Amino acid sequence: MTRRYEVAVLPGDGVGPEVIAAAERVLEAAAATSGIALRLEQFPFGAAAVRAAGEPFPEVTRAACLRADAVLLGAVGDPSLDAAPRARRPETGLLALRQALGVFANLRPVSAIPALAHASPLRAERLRDVDLLVVRELTGGLYYGEPRGRYGNRAVNTLTYEREEIERVARVAFAAAGRRRGVVTSVDKANVLEVSVLWREVVSEVARDYPDVRLEHQLVDSAAMRLISDPASLDVLLTENLFGDILSDEAAVLAGSIGLLPSASLGAGRGLFEPIHGSAPGIAGRDAANPVGAILSAAMLLRYAVGSDEGARLIEAAVAQVIAAGLRTRDTAAPGERAVGTGEFGARVASAVAASGAAISTAR
Ligand code: IPM
Ligand code: MN
Repeated sequence: MTRRYEVAVLPGDGVGPEVIAAAERVLEAAAATSGIALRLEQFPFGAAAVRAAGEPFPEVTRAACLRADAVLLGAVGDPSLDAAPRARRPETGLLALRQALGVFANLRPVSAIPALAHASPLRAERLRDVDLLVVRELTGGLYYGEPRGRYGNRAVNTLTYEREEIERVARVAFAAAGRRRGVVTSVDKANVLEVSVLWREVVSEVARDYPDVRLEHQLVDSAAMRLISDPASLDVLLTENLFGDILSDEAAVLAGSIGLLPSASLGAGRGLFEPIHGSAPGIAGRDAANPVGAILSAAMLLRYAVGSDEGARLIEAAVAQVIAAGLRTRDTAAPGERAVGTGEFGARVASAVAASGAAISTAR
């Protein structure tokens, strides 16, 4: 009997529902083609859930995520809740979701597709051979440290890491580097922060278990510069939560649009898969968002949660094919180039997946 995989789908806010609709379509096509039984079910999350249930991460959603084999998320964030108390903010729901799932390692692959080089402000020759992976620690650091709070004219956040938290995410980075070009660049601020001194110490210890991987340490300020001045020299970039948040948005400039980038958040149990972009309220509801980040997140879901590298590759190849054929959403269209909507882009990727499935079965 084939196993059926349950996916909790959280469309969230802004462009989230639009990019998720495209990703669902592609995921269904890839599952059908690869003979994978998937069941997708949507649950409220983010500002949408605040409006419906008074909180961003309601119990029904939490229970569904903990039951599911994987979680696929669109985006959260809504300017109308910017001033809301922290418990009612969509971002608080996202942090609670990551914590509930225990997804401590956030994988953010970044590559520059030559056909989209015009979309990046960097010169095309800088973008040649850019293929890097940011491994961002996701359930610790300043995002979660206690104490935190606002005390009149003083506000506090705490940066704290335990040895064990550093070690487990470092192992994910070294294992990934072993399957890639074999270099880990660990990013910290060890010239100033005690936490970074510990980070360096632990990462260096972990490195001894991976003799085929070369480790280098780099301070975050110069790493930020290298990401733009010599991005092709980077393979795996390992870093803590806030540095990873900032550096991965910076890395999106290499790809040409933040709408292109996917992520997988992994831990001991089920994974969370989400594009790295936000809810983009300015273009929400206009069929203008780039669904590639969400679609490639669905590919990562097949790879890591279902264990189907074949299904993941099918999606990745279909995205590459559709881009090579000249299809563009607004964010990556060159001046004068026609742009299609989120829905049409998703439909074209889904049919490319189905067509390659048909080709595979004919060849068999
Ligand atoms: C991201 C986002 C989130 C983060 C926000 C929405 C809380 O920017 O996934 O990168 O900072 O982790
Ligand atoms: Mn971010």
